[in-house]
Amino acid sequence: MATKLSVNINKIATLRNSRGGNNPDVLQAAIDCQLFGADGITVHPRPDERHIRYADVRDIKKIITTEFNIEGNPTEDKFVELVLEVKPEQVTLVPDALGQLTSDHGWDTIKQAKYLREIIAVFKSAGIRVSIFVDPVADMVSAAADTGTDRVELYTEAYAKGYKANKETAIAPYIIAAKAAIDNKLGLNAGHDLDRHNLNFFASSIPNLAEVSIGHALIADALYYGLENTIQLFKRQLV
Ligand code: PXP
Repeated sequence: MATKLSVNINKIATLRNSRGGNNPDVLQAAIDCQLFGADGITVHPRPDERHIRYADVRDIKKIITTEFNIEGNPTEDKFVELVLEVKPEQVTLVPDALGQLTSDHGWDTIKQAKYLREIIAVFKSAGIRVSIFVDPVADMVSAAADTGTDRVELYTEAYAKGYKANKETAIAPYIIAAKAAIDNKLGLNAGHDLDRHNLNFFASSIPNLAEVSIGHALIADALYYGLENTIQLFKRQLV
């Protein structure tokens, strides 16, 4: 099965917020991304609401026809309450700090196992699929299986950084981590810094890749190629 493309629309909210008002319209963008071929919409509401606002998440729920993926740190009660209210198809748990520019590390699934097990059970009992953000380290993936998560999302910044210098070297740890996911019957997602250049090699090297979520590079490309062309262009990298 082809890997699904979930479009992260946080950057559209960032542009809107920079001027006040409602231009660009985040809700319309979510509707259009789906129309243009996105298999899902991802949002990452942060407590300071500097990108996606909590109200956006509630509004998107009303128009979503594909998969809704909400990312965030469950140590924030407000985030847990929002996810349980909105009930997306998937919640992706990310251990980012307050005010952090963007996610920059995965969970330590060994040291934080107890905490993860408890919080994952909360989402799963509400019928929400859970994915947890992890570094591409086989031990972290294997230990994730004991937390009850359905999937792991491999943090791909290191791959994206290393891709130009040596793509074979850059992908190597991800192939090992992906195998650990198969061995432990975990679904596999990936995201962060994937772009139209590095995406095809990543997806074709990782056979069990269920979904990628892409924001920054896709929205930046949309300035040149338009949102519809860009989504199609990224989707073609996934077949
Ligand atoms: N996955 C997670 C957990 C993220 O935090 C982000 C950034 O919000 C992404 C994927 C998407 O990364 P990018 O914007 O670089 O495509």
